[in-house]
Amino acid sequence: MTHQEDVVVGIDGSDDAAVVRLNDGKLIVQTVDFFTPIVDDPYQFGQIAATNSLSDIYAMGAIPRFGLNIVGFPIKELPKEVLSEILRGGSDKAKEAGIPIVGGHSIDDKEPKYGLVITGEVEESKLIKNSTAHEGDALILTKPLGTGIISTAIKRSLVAKSIINQSIDCMKTLNAHPSTLMIEYNAHAATDVTGFGLLGHLYEMCKASNLSAKIQFKDIPFLDGVRNLVSKGIYPKGSKRNLDYVSEFISFSNTVSDDQKIMAADAQTSGGLLVALPQNKADGYIKNCFELTGLIAKQIGTLTSKSDYFIKLK
Ligand code: CO
Ligand code: CO
Repeated sequence: MTHQEDVVVGIDGSDDAAVVRLNDGKLIVQTVDFFTPIVDDPYQFGQIAATNSLSDIYAMGAIPRFGLNIVGFPIKELPKEVLSEILRGGSDKAKEAGIPIVGGHSIDDKEPKYGLVITGEVEESKLIKNSTAHEGDALILTKPLGTGIISTAIKRSLVAKSIINQSIDCMKTLNAHPSTLMIEYNAHAATDVTGFGLLGHLYEMCKASNLSAKIQFKDIPFLDGVRNLVSKGIYPKGSKRNLDYVSEFISFSNTVSDDQKIMAADAQTSGGLLVALPQNKADGYIKNCFELTGLIAKQIGTLTSKSDYFIKLK
């Protein structure tokens, strides 16, 4: 039987997954996520959804063990093959992550939806929360931003194939390596950057850790084409909502344009990890991430003692 005191990370915090201590002292880590298609190709949609679901486990420094599919599908309107392709994408990503998908549940639904419940485990000493960052830590982002902006452009058929492919490659890259490297480089805190965007998730980390962050726009990595799309007014409503929500906690220097604020707040799907680790470990971590994922990780700023803002963006 699980008692309240065995809930290590529960619903009252803002962490990425639930963490419960089992009788033998081991921690079980569990998360669920699903969404509607954001790309046209069902196989790639399945890969992205699975990568995204696994990400919350990786963000906590945990090791995924198995997954369960969650499926909504318009059985009468769309060919069965579309569903098989979505599931094949999810299954291939699960394989890459080294886990089986052992079951799931599907319903007839107007719009396709797919995602997974992922169960993982971690030793208590290796659990990484978003509330345990240290003053002076370097802040590292392990994937470029802009998948929300590019997905909006895809829906309106407004973007070149090469830009779409780059965004898809980014979304289907597992956060497995950046996660395991966190242990080696003494990461103090982490979260993954998803729906609330970089600014939203960084705000959560600062608030939970009782610190402030100073970040530089010029150091934030973006996917190709993002600047151009935003300058044409192409971005998701969710990114604007993110910005409206976090703005009161942010001190923007007047060199930061409105377009740049939207870019930094862009709602991500299957984004990278945002990791707080000692400044003298930053270069090694960044180099190793690139070697193992092929994606550019970058230091975007540092954590400071708590100020009258949570984030200073210059
Ligand atoms: Co998360
Ligand atoms: Co999540």
